[in-house]
Amino acid sequence: MATGLLRRATTTPAVISPISRLLLSRLHATEASPPPQSPTTMKTFQIYRWNPDNPSKPELKNYEINLKDCGPMVLDALIKIKNEIDPSLTFRRSCREGICGSCAMNIDGCNGLACLTKIETSSTAASMVTPLPHMFVIKDLVVDMTNFYNQYKSIEPWLKRKNPATTPGKEYLQTKEDRKKLDGMDECILCACCSTSCPSYWWNPESYLGPAALLHAHRWIADSRDEYTEERLEAINDEFKLYRCHTIMNCTRACPKGLNPAKQIQQIKRLEAK
Ligand code: SF4
Ligand code: SF4
Ligand code: FES
Repeated sequence: MATGLLRRATTTPAVISPISRLLLSRLHATEASPPPQSPTTMKTFQIYRWNPDNPSKPELKNYEINLKDCGPMVLDALIKIKNEIDPSLTFRRSCREGICGSCAMNIDGCNGLACLTKIETSSTAASMVTPLPHMFVIKDLVVDMTNFYNQYKSIEPWLKRKNPATTPGKEYLQTKEDRKKLDGMDECILCACCSTSCPSYWWNPESYLGPAALLHAHRWIADSRDEYTEERLEAINDEFKLYRCHTIMNCTRACPKGLNPAKQIQQIKRLEAK
């Protein structure tokens, strides 16, 4: 760019207007002085570390990185720390765009996806990154999802039919209106941000299904093609599986996909009351 400006300046006629002279003097001044340096933007991340092979207690470890050399998301910072400072840092990630749900963790006190959470730049305070709350930690930010997945499996998340398809080998059709009833449920990516932010789930993780599994239960109850609606409702009509939800709404606030598990649980309770 500077070369282009210089070349143009050499072709300037001998007689120039005052305005052009002013502009030219500014251009030359720009060329003469070095480009302004933007300030270094250092940010500290306090990250939960625990290694099962090391019997010491978990700790919060500080890592300082320059945000000028880092992407804007918390996952970018974690990848940078792992690549450049500490390769032993362990966390899950895959898609990097909020689709796979694997980078769910607690960032500055809120559950969220690291790949969709922007690094806090409005304050110089350290950002704290910890595993999803009330989950067993396997290593660092990786938690054991076995119980969560078993609960999902328990609601039988697949289409169940009593009558065969009218045209064998073809899809089971539904109207656009019926398909619309599944909106707000089938976008769930099973990240567990909702369930692990729910106090009822914290206290009863084995017996309460939690908002994610219940959202999926309702997804199949509401599906016009499924013929096991009564059985599905019966299976979760339980003091613990369903009625531990006290409508605290943490789940809905936590969902990074903007879903409303608390509303879906309310819909199930309404159907159960009929
Ligand atoms: S609304 Fe129900 S599921 Fe959601 S956080 Fe509250 S108790 Fe948990
Ligand atoms: S409802 Fe939202 S927060 Fe809960 S598992 Fe699905 S995507 Fe994650
Ligand atoms: S990496 Fe897939 S949701 Fe974040």
